[in-house]
Amino acid sequence: LSVTAVVPAAGIGTRMQAGKPKQYLEIAGKTILEHTLNALMAHPLVNHTIIAAHPDDTILPTLPFYKKSWLSVVQGGSERAHSVLNAVSTLPETAWALVHDAARPCLSVDDIGKLLALMKDESVAGGILATPVRDTMKRAHPTKSQIVSHTESRESLWHALTPQLFKAGELTHAIQAGLTSGTLITDEASAMEAVGHQVKLVAGNPANIKITHPEDLPLAAFYLSQLAQ
Ligand code: CTP
Ligand code: MG
Repeated sequence: LSVTAVVPAAGIGTRMQAGKPKQYLEIAGKTILEHTLNALMAHPLVNHTIIAAHPDDTILPTLPFYKKSWLSVVQGGSERAHSVLNAVSTLPETAWALVHDAARPCLSVDDIGKLLALMKDESVAGGILATPVRDTMKRAHPTKSQIVSHTESRESLWHALTPQLFKAGELTHAIQAGLTSGTLITDEASAMEAVGHQVKLVAGNPANIKITHPEDLPLAAFYLSQLAQ
């Protein structure tokens, strides 16, 4: 049994406004992408990684891990779903794909292990790391967007994180179906749900943040220093 990590890294980091894609910013002397790859490859069952990179990416080939035998690179697409599709569609149908954002370097090997335990759970197609919502949730008014319509129950709401684990064949078909029908696919699970697969929620560490805005960088640096201990 083995797993291939799939790392969408073809985004350009519009919200980070850094002059280069955020996965190439450095924390503690290493690019965010390298921290992310190290976290994934630290699990003994993860034996290969496929990165989906932007066609105009000139930084990736200069990085120290680029020529490693455990790494392959495919071209990313215009949206995250296209980038993931380009990578998972190269895998055998029955292979397990562990899809993880390049921009989430603070992933612990424990959390990977919890998710990979699902490979033995025949009742679900796969699952995702997620954390229960903490704040009180407000639904805004449909037309007056700054006015509260009502309070949503927080009871059954989770934040979806990555990694997300599915069989490559099922995920490929689900993303293709979603792209064809125009379903909103913002993660792998949304594509799988839309075609009727059971997706398990696995409680993960909320430190596994997606670096999105500049203020996320010191937070990620702190979580990475904690993980290193
Ligand atoms: N991603 C991708 N292909 C795209 C868009 C995003 O592979 N066409 C990747 C990003 O590189 C990132 C992950 O998907 O690792 C999550 O996306 P996001 O946080 O939105 O990153 P960006 O799209 O780079 O940032 P922004 O939306 O602010 O431009
Ligand atoms: Mg984006």
